[in-house]
Amino acid sequence: MPNSKNTVTQQSHDKTTGFEPKIVAFCCNWCSYPAADGAGVARLQYPTNIKIVRVMCGGRVTPSFVLKAFELGADGVLVATCHFEDCHYMFGARKAADIHKITERLTEMLGIEKERLKLDWISSAEASKFARVAKEFTETIRKLGPSAIKKNSYTLNEIIEDE
Ligand code: FES
Repeated sequence: MPNSKNTVTQQSHDKTTGFEPKIVAFCCNWCSYPAADGAGVARLQYPTNIKIVRVMCGGRVTPSFVLKAFELGADGVLVATCHFEDCHYMFGARKAADIHKITERLTEMLGIEKERLKLDWISSAEASKFARVAKEFTETIRKLGPSAIKKNSYTLNEIIEDE
């Protein structure tokens, strides 16, 4: 399983601010999820900041998935799909690319920098690419700092305490 205790050791942590980015990665079951698994098996280090949500196809990741992740406290969201020609559902990866453009516009309208959202294509044989993308994206988010949405949102506990 990707990101298990044994496979991931690198932690991206800003010691000056204590900021620890939370990143949700929606990974396609057929390509990027096995790539993440392969990274773990090969002991390629990538930040534990990446929390993987497995989806059957990248085309399944609608804007609501991404917006919900931000609402729940993600500082960045990665959508990792098959390469176009490898999608098990024919057009899912292309659909993901189209949806991504819409999601980018929606997130920008909400005041979320577009750099906090990333789409990439990672095949099951590209474990090292998965590790590299995970590292680079984590660094990008770390430089951006906490998401404005998170800073202004209430946690469930805060809402319950207010009542
Ligand atoms: Fe992987 Fe469609 S099956 S993106």
